[in-house]
Amino acid sequence: MSHVLAAVAWPYANGPRHIGHVSGFGVPSDVFSRYMRMAGHDVLMVSGTDEHGTPIQVQADAEGLKPRELADRYNRVIVEDLHGLGLTYDLFTRTTTRNHYAVVQELFSVLHRNGYIIARTTLGAISPSTGRTLPDRYIEGTCPICGYGSARGDQCDNCGNQLDPEQLINPKSKINGEVPEFVETEHFFLDLPAFAESIGRWLDQRENWRPNVLKFSRNLLDDLQPRAITRDLEWGVPIPLEGWAERNDKRIYVWFDAVIGYLSASIEWARRTGDPEAWRQWWSADGLGKDSQSYYFMGKDNIVFHSVIWPALLLGYSGEGAKGGEAGDFGKLNLPTEVVSSEYLTMEGKKFSSSRRVVIFVRDFLERYDADALRYFIAAAGPESTDTDFTWAEFVRRNNDELVAGWGNLVNRSISMAAKNFGVIPSPGPLTPEDEALLAASRAGFTTVGELIGKHRQKAAIGEAMRVVAEANKYLSDQAPWKLKSESDKPRQATILYVVLQVVSDANTLLTPFLPHAAQKVFELLGGAGVHAPMPRIEEVDDLDGGPGYPVLTGDYTVGARWESVPIVAGTPLAAPKPVFRKLEPSVIEEELARLEG
Ligand code: MF3
Ligand code: ZN
Repeated sequence: MSHVLAAVAWPYANGPRHIGHVSGFGVPSDVFSRYMRMAGHDVLMVSGTDEHGTPIQVQADAEGLKPRELADRYNRVIVEDLHGLGLTYDLFTRTTTRNHYAVVQELFSVLHRNGYIIARTTLGAISPSTGRTLPDRYIEGTCPICGYGSARGDQCDNCGNQLDPEQLINPKSKINGEVPEFVETEHFFLDLPAFAESIGRWLDQRENWRPNVLKFSRNLLDDLQPRAITRDLEWGVPIPLEGWAERNDKRIYVWFDAVIGYLSASIEWARRTGDPEAWRQWWSADGLGKDSQSYYFMGKDNIVFHSVIWPALLLGYSGEGAKGGEAGDFGKLNLPTEVVSSEYLTMEGKKFSSSRRVVIFVRDFLERYDADALRYFIAAAGPESTDTDFTWAEFVRRNNDELVAGWGNLVNRSISMAAKNFGVIPSPGPLTPEDEALLAASRAGFTTVGELIGKHRQKAAIGEAMRVVAEANKYLSDQAPWKLKSESDKPRQATILYVVLQVVSDANTLLTPFLPHAAQKVFELLGGAGVHAPMPRIEEVDDLDGGPGYPVLTGDYTVGARWESVPIVAGTPLAAPKPVFRKLEPSVIEEELARLEG
């Protein structure tokens, strides 16, 4: 048993999340965490909404709200969506808690003290009429690289290049159309080159990362420049240095604060459990947590922040960059064991786009379909290591042919046949080689499926679990227990049904990390009582340090099935089962396509 941190990317609270988002960070991290808990590890799964920065400010302005009001609204929406998907966060919090501010400022202060944060003067845009600073994203102009007419001050959406606002040709304010003035402004930079060596050494020791992710991360080290970690913005965490803390126009850059959320959320979780030091079991590099592992889940646009920026912050805080230094109060902190990044999900061949309505939001999806149908699609056909397309036709096909006709059908026909003929789980007689072979296949699944999930190969893992299901379906067809009607055939019929019910029970456990809602139902159909697959709950909490209250996701996940074959008990009463999965009409495809770009 060991301590395993599942660190899940923090969704922006600037709008509802769509299924592309949850296919990258959400479902894979939950499958992994559920499996690791079942296998006996001490998992801490944390995340929250990412609520600072220009995107929130821009969206709030567009909706006539204060940034905090906008964040409050979407924090709640996102909490409900993730709850609906059954994602078992130990704590899903937010970046606007006082605890988070304090932890971010502690890291900033120590990095500054250790010499890794340096002040520099740069050019910033201001609005001549108001004198207010204009964030990069508020400036629009012609891209100097591709000539696109509405490039933004931070990047061009046409060619994808990162830009500085002063590079734009004919720059204009998106707020009032005036031409911005560029003036000198002071900012803090993270001295990334001072970490190149340490990060390189760490990356060299990484094993089993997805090759794309490791290669991408290594390449980033070739050209490390100091990176601005403050912004001219009112919305964000104040800079904890004398002369800066009181200023209303300078804030810590959103990415600097968000990645620190993994640590601050772990600390918040510990404080809420009543053992405020408990987080150290996952984090302390030289103490309690030195044998722990940490896995970070995200989409590929987040890699640089998790394989370079976050490690740099952890190293600098621990006094382990080229400039040395002393660790802060939290002590030396663990670097990620693995950055588990997925690729992109597209929608009917196009990039997801909320504004162009090439999208389905999680909430709308869950209103019409079951969470496990989406979880199945993401695990079996999601963007694990290549970009992948979501199509409604493929969703319906997988649901109907695999979930309903494969797994649902096995559950349904085996339990209803046993219920009808015996009313209980029957007692087996002597086993034939065919019986033994099937039982061995499902038992072997605990090793193969478990190892694959542990290596973040969920597509292969669910494929192996479904292979057991297919074998059991074939076994049933071959053995045809429905033909064994005479009194003298009864014992053999009992044995076949016993064997197949044992395999249904095993396959259900193998599928539990992927299909937790269905797994609980199948467990109950087999006569089980109590919790098989634990679920998160939404709790309204007070801010620990006097700020406004907020909803969190949390839960007790120590209960539930273990990762092992549990012998079924002959004599357990069985009732005629209700279907566990819903077949979808093919007309669903047309309806959903009509909603897109409608
Ligand atoms: N909000 C970012 C996104 O949606 C992810 C932030 S991950 C964190 O792309 F670690 F920085 F929090
Ligand atoms: Zn361009």
